[in-house]
Amino acid sequence: MSISTIEWEDGRIKLIDQTLLPNEFKQIFCDDLPTIWEAIKSLRVRGAPAIGIAGALGAVLGIWNSTATTYDTFASELKSATDYLATSRPTAVNLFWALDRMTKTAEENRDLPISELKKTLLAEAEEIIEEDKAMCRAIGQHGMALLNENDTILTHCNAGGLATSDYGTALAVMFSAHEAGKQIQVYADETRPLLQGARLTTWELMQAGIDVTLICDNMAAQVMKEGKIQCVIVGADRIAANGDTANKIGTYNVAILAQAHEIPFYVAAPTSTLDYALASGDEIPIEQRSAEEVTEGFGKVTAPKGVKVYSPAFDVTPASLVTAIITEKGVAHPPFTESLGALKDE
Ligand code: MRU
Repeated sequence: MSISTIEWEDGRIKLIDQTLLPNEFKQIFCDDLPTIWEAIKSLRVRGAPAIGIAGALGAVLGIWNSTATTYDTFASELKSATDYLATSRPTAVNLFWALDRMTKTAEENRDLPISELKKTLLAEAEEIIEEDKAMCRAIGQHGMALLNENDTILTHCNAGGLATSDYGTALAVMFSAHEAGKQIQVYADETRPLLQGARLTTWELMQAGIDVTLICDNMAAQVMKEGKIQCVIVGADRIAANGDTANKIGTYNVAILAQAHEIPFYVAAPTSTLDYALASGDEIPIEQRSAEEVTEGFGKVTAPKGVKVYSPAFDVTPASLVTAIITEKGVAHPPFTESLGALKDE
């Protein structure tokens, strides 16, 4: 299966509007910075690696029509674009990783004519996309070795092709196993409040011909108790140096349940999701979302008007609950400070 989640086309960004799925498959164009910013903020494009790609392409969009004649003017236009994009969503480190990479590329090529520099930045963003594709395939290969014939996997949120350039991280493991002829089944958590599991994960897995069953988030304990789940695989938005993992709200609950039922809990993520600058997950910024997403998500009012709402979009699963982290460079095992540290130097 191959979905082009987000790409550059003729001077603008083309992306699948994920807020419309699964009812409507529609690709939209972002012609300017506010439009791509809004697309990230409102989750038209979402998932840590895809947000990183949106940032990189957004940086290109920010300077594409620049009329700067000096590098300093060009660099300050690029900086205002990257600063602006950095305010869209705080948790996925891939966004900041990609924006930094674009800034460094500009600096390293500062002697080029501006017209060439623009093309160099576009080439860098496209390189990020190609690397992401390769990383996802490698994650799939490393991860599928952890699966046994007839395993049933529980996943939370969407870490599939839609969350990356085209193949996913957690779902890459499932796609790879399925493509290799392994019999697997998947349970997908619905993932309140924005239903990425119900709307996107089941859609992707069904398209790939993988046996998937949708459950509400609060059913996971019972499903585990019934012995239906052999492992959990989720994606990540940011992993601290010690292995503490930020992912979609509710992931921590699933990790606790997995430990209580002695089920392995795997995180699948590219190394661009590792934030070595943070010693532990306590330092990971957690995005807060609007009350309306909880009280009237998808149009229907489901809570009294004026009720107080608290809606963190992510939680941090302590490394002690993580069995292994599947990256494109291989599978890291505890203690993660050592195993993830070793990946940095590869
Ligand atoms: O709010 P979202 O939909 O962007 O959250 C997405 C997730 O939490 C994913 O699990 C994570 O970004 C990994 S995507 C490969």
